[in-house]
Amino acid sequence: MESSNLNRRQFHKTFSSTSIALGMSAITAKRSQGANDRLRIGVIGCGGRGGSHIGMLLKLREQGNALDITAVCDTYRPRLQQAAERTHAVFSTMKHEELLERSDVDVVLIATPEHWHGYQTIDALKAGKDIYVEKPLTHWRQLGLAEKVAEAAKQSGGLVQVGCQRMSCSAYTQAKELIQKGMIGKPVMAETGYFRFGDWGERGMSIDDPNAHPGPDLDWERFQGDCPRHEFSVSRYFRWRMYADTAGGPISDNYIHFYNPLAYTLGLGYPTKVAGLGGIHRYTLDQAPDPVYRQEREIPDTCNLVIEYPDRFTVTCSGTQANAFTTYGSNETPIIRGWDGTLLIGGQDIRVLKSDDSKEIHREPIQHGIDQMKFWADFLDCCRTRKQPLSNAALSAPVNTTMQMGVMAVNGERVIRYDHEQKRVIA
Ligand SMILES: NC(=O)c1ccc[n+]([C@@H]2O[C@H](COP(=O)([O-])OP(=O)(O)OC[C@H]3O[C@@H](n4cnc5c(N)ncnc54)[C@H](O)[C@@H]3O)[C@@H](O)[C@H]2O)c1
Repeated sequence: MESSNLNRRQFHKTFSSTSIALGMSAITAKRSQGANDRLRIGVIGCGGRGGSHIGMLLKLREQGNALDITAVCDTYRPRLQQAAERTHAVFSTMKHEELLERSDVDVVLIATPEHWHGYQTIDALKAGKDIYVEKPLTHWRQLGLAEKVAEAAKQSGGLVQVGCQRMSCSAYTQAKELIQKGMIGKPVMAETGYFRFGDWGERGMSIDDPNAHPGPDLDWERFQGDCPRHEFSVSRYFRWRMYADTAGGPISDNYIHFYNPLAYTLGLGYPTKVAGLGGIHRYTLDQAPDPVYRQEREIPDTCNLVIEYPDRFTVTCSGTQANAFTTYGSNETPIIRGWDGTLLIGGQDIRVLKSDDSKEIHREPIQHGIDQMKFWADFLDCCRTRKQPLSNAALSAPVNTTMQMGVMAVNGERVIRYDHEQKRVIA
């Protein structure tokens, strides 16, 4: 099945020529939107998530937000055509470099599979754009790429919002303030979890056409990017979430949603160690409902992580797709323990309990919950005012690396270390 790895240099030559061609002049070309300026948006990746982003953007425009979707890009022509018709974009292409060359694109949405996010974000930054990129910032194989994205954002002045929409909830800023005020004393531990019954859509991904094949309407070579090469299969293309070369499973797809806000709340940087255990515990061969699914799943359904940070702080992060019960609040909200108190985010409130007898010493309402439309509107506002979004690349790079270490730890059933002096994962 597997043929040779695409050489990284060849990959860059083939797929990142635009960035080289545009050079520094384009990088600094245009970063001066006014507060009411009309923003022109290019969409790269017009599948399920790209489609919901298009819906949100069209709705925002209806509500008076000054924006147009001017260009669309997808490696599968039927989806590209559908997006072009829906958005009335003036330009459509199967090559993201061609979209990035356009002067009528200010902001780029990237909703491609995980292994393309980092490269396309860097290309877009180099082309002078602001970027909303879906999580995770990079695929788990691509160690060090998230840091390159953060660096490129810093160098170019381009804005990057990473699509962890949970960051639009006020609870995390409120919790951060309470912790900074000393309400729980020195934080020592946080517990998070991701419990659900069944899959999160990974095997439900639509195979639009079971007879689709590589050619002028489907660019298999481009889709694969820096992946080890495989024979084409509609499943690998349309259900890329099931395969380790293109996806990381629950950790990079789901845990990252609550880890990003947790890192923001607690100011977490890079860990020292990540230990992981897990595997395919629910969807074992005898339990898997359909034979195709049985053959294709490479990603785990159960992942348990222990993450250690410098300064004696630990996070436990457990989860399974076999049972949705949770002990407190929703299934992803953290419990943050300190020497003096425990902070709970759940339901409508944030509560602080004393650490010895669990007596409630503080309660306040969560001012506003998760709002994806607001998350977009706030980012467009940032693009106009040049304010940094909360869910930016600098915050996300260490989170992304921690999640990469988590995937590596679970896949290899081992402890992965981070070298703080050399600033790199010891793989
Ligand atoms: N934040 C959220 O709540 C949320 C929800 C769903 C998905 N997502 C993220 O959105 C991303 C896309 O997920 P999806 O469910 O829409 O997948 P999808 O397969 O439905 O869509 C991906 C699209 O990208 C296209 N594509 C692949 N490689 C490309 C390339 N190199 N250039 C241009 N187009 C390319 C594919 O043809 C496909 O249409 C994933 O990273 C996923 O994690 C986030």
